[in-house]
Amino acid sequence: AARPSRRARRGRWLLAGALLLPAAAQSPPAAEPATRDRPVGDTLYPTLGQADLDARHYDVHLTVTQPGTRALSGEVTVTLRATRDLPLISLDFLGPPVTFARWDGQPVPYRQDRPGGKLRILRALPAGQQASVTLRYAGVAGLLPDPVFPFTLGWQAVPDPLKVGGGANFAFGEPDGTRTFLPVNDHPSDPATFTVTLTVPPGTAAVASGERVRVTDTPGAHTVTFEQTRPIPTYALAVHLGPLEEQGSPAVPVGEGGAAVARRDYFPPGTPGAVRAPYRRTGEILGVLSDWFGPFPFATYGSVVVTAHLPALETATLSTMPVASSSDRVLVHETAHQWFGNSVTLRDWSDVWLNEGFATYAELLWHEHLGQDPRPLAEAWYATLQRRGTRPLVATDATELFDSSAYQRGALALHALRRQVGDPAFRRFLRAYAQGQAGPVVGTDDLLAFVRRTLGDPAGDTLQRWIRQPLLPPAP
Ligand code: ARG
Ligand code: ZN
Repeated sequence: AARPSRRARRGRWLLAGALLLPAAAQSPPAAEPATRDRPVGDTLYPTLGQADLDARHYDVHLTVTQPGTRALSGEVTVTLRATRDLPLISLDFLGPPVTFARWDGQPVPYRQDRPGGKLRILRALPAGQQASVTLRYAGVAGLLPDPVFPFTLGWQAVPDPLKVGGGANFAFGEPDGTRTFLPVNDHPSDPATFTVTLTVPPGTAAVASGERVRVTDTPGAHTVTFEQTRPIPTYALAVHLGPLEEQGSPAVPVGEGGAAVARRDYFPPGTPGAVRAPYRRTGEILGVLSDWFGPFPFATYGSVVVTAHLPALETATLSTMPVASSSDRVLVHETAHQWFGNSVTLRDWSDVWLNEGFATYAELLWHEHLGQDPRPLAEAWYATLQRRGTRPLVATDATELFDSSAYQRGALALHALRRQVGDPAFRRFLRAYAQGQAGPVVGTDDLLAFVRRTLGDPAGDTLQRWIRQPLLPPAP
């Protein structure tokens, strides 16, 4: 056959380009352009995730033979759905080399761009179709600096100073650290369910988000499986292993229809009583918060105390609590995130104030429960913002993710709404929002529209000022 004309060839390439299919189907994958996958388009993290990819479930198996080091091996099967024709699958991964990839059980070509943090599975997934992709990897977890604080995100290694097998590892994912040890569609707008199986040396404890469903002990290994049956954002996945002591507590009737929420906490050996004390109030905290926010979204809840120096993190069903953050105030904050962040999830990282503002506001609700006047707390927030300066609530830079505007200005915006509409209407609004009535994935505009719909335009105008105005609105 005659060679197609240059124009026809270009036409074919363009058409193929629009379909994101190679014109020369016989060309080897390595020769294809690497830009054919589109990230989700996050405002602050433009490279994260793949647009139109719905990762529904991650079946994760992690093996750690030397706790406290960065060495690990993993096998994960991701159940994927395409909401549009996808020319390939692109997962976020900064972890060790991938040595094996299967697509519905059959070998599939893949390409790992480790510096770029992308693992591309070179096969198309048509719109509406589902596939199950299995990946194996072994080596050392990736490193990623925190956008603000002097620590490394993602897989944490706490060495054992005595070298007696007492090292620990845990996950600190927010915002984009889960990809240091697990290939994921690493964006909160694509929450998923998880099955996590952890294999560790005998005598080492291992816990993860969800309910423990299986324990297998052999002379050489301890293996535990957890099921997280309700979708959570990837950054909220809890994984902890090390010398942890489990402390069970009576279940709390704060689930849907008064269902029991199981309770357990984990402490490093020798944790002093003063550090353990706030966790004894977890049931009371769950009671107070579910009274405001409605049923607790998960079947189990507790904390893991860690000795590392980093912030507390609201890992799903199992908050990660540094020793230095072991106060009832921080525990209330992380527990509130189980609704705000883990159940109702972010559309974009620039909307993170939706997580932090609501969780900070929960601290004021706890204050009131303790019979304390909430006004000095709200005034202190306002004074902090006046002192440090403030900004509109939608973040424009990753360094703003966890600043006082996200936390205190976000909380004050809610307080202003409450002052304007009164407690009964505010309660109804807060509960409806926490129970997902503004959507399971929300952005700032979704909240604003929801406030206008449920509390009326004057309340919407007030919220809008708190969201958009460069300077602080008057103290509520
Ligand atoms: N969401 C956490 C909290 O306020 C804070 C996480 C800070 N994360 C970070 N990468 N610095 O409870
Ligand atoms: Zn928070």
